[in-house]
Amino acid sequence: MTAQLLTTLATELNLAKLPHHVAVIMDGNGRWAKQKGLPRIEGHRQGAKTLKEMLRYCKDLGIKILTAYAFSTENWGRPTGEVNFLMALFERLLQKELKEMEAEEVCINFIGDLSPLPTSLQQEMRHSMERTKNNQGVYFNVAINYGSRHEMVKACQAIAEKVQLGELSADSINEETIAQHLYTSASADPDLLIRTSGEMRLSNFLLWQLAYTEIYVTDTLWPDFNHQQFDRALQSYQKRDRRFGKKIG
Ligand code: FPP
Repeated sequence: MTAQLLTTLATELNLAKLPHHVAVIMDGNGRWAKQKGLPRIEGHRQGAKTLKEMLRYCKDLGIKILTAYAFSTENWGRPTGEVNFLMALFERLLQKELKEMEAEEVCINFIGDLSPLPTSLQQEMRHSMERTKNNQGVYFNVAINYGSRHEMVKACQAIAEKVQLGELSADSINEETIAQHLYTSASADPDLLIRTSGEMRLSNFLLWQLAYTEIYVTDTLWPDFNHQQFDRALQSYQKRDRRFGKKIG
């Protein structure tokens, strides 16, 4: 058992009642950098370190899936220098971290429309997915060029095509059909969504999948998010009465 896990036990987390799937909106990198008088890219660099820490912590705790929102379809509207930096950062991280992900039994998967991304980044993504596809320690979904509405449009198009080809009848389409045509078809829906830096919105992230997810928002900026903060989110989750729309009592 790691020292970190012992710290967690001391905070009275119920290890039998942990979420299976945690999703994170990693917000506040830019503000973190600004507060420190640094360029925004330093916030992203630090944010990537936080993400790595949180992935390791999920694995140590036995949380099976972590899904992180790294780049939205709207993020292309940022200054070119910042977008280019992020693309280069993703690529460099994949090259640098692949060996460790393999050793730590991480299965990485990218969700989003990857086609407009730089070719070399796409190659690195495909390579890392291929090399880690049989790992079962922790499933790590990274949303890049992801937008939930776009995902749903793509799903509708794919389903409509199957109907047109006679592979599917319109009246047999149900919630399961839709879920199977989303990028996340291989994952159970998130149990807990964590959003950092205080904003109370979903920002076009997993709109279908978050239907019954518990939401935890903290004012902490993503680069400052740490194990203790994660524990707090988990403790809050464990106090929730999840009813999935049913009235109980
Ligand atoms: C939001 O903060 C953060 C991002 C758009 C980028 C997140 C990317 C990383 C943390 C790198 C992760 C790397 C991999 C390979 C997954 P913001 O810039 O919107 O902050 P602000 O709201 O304070 O401006």
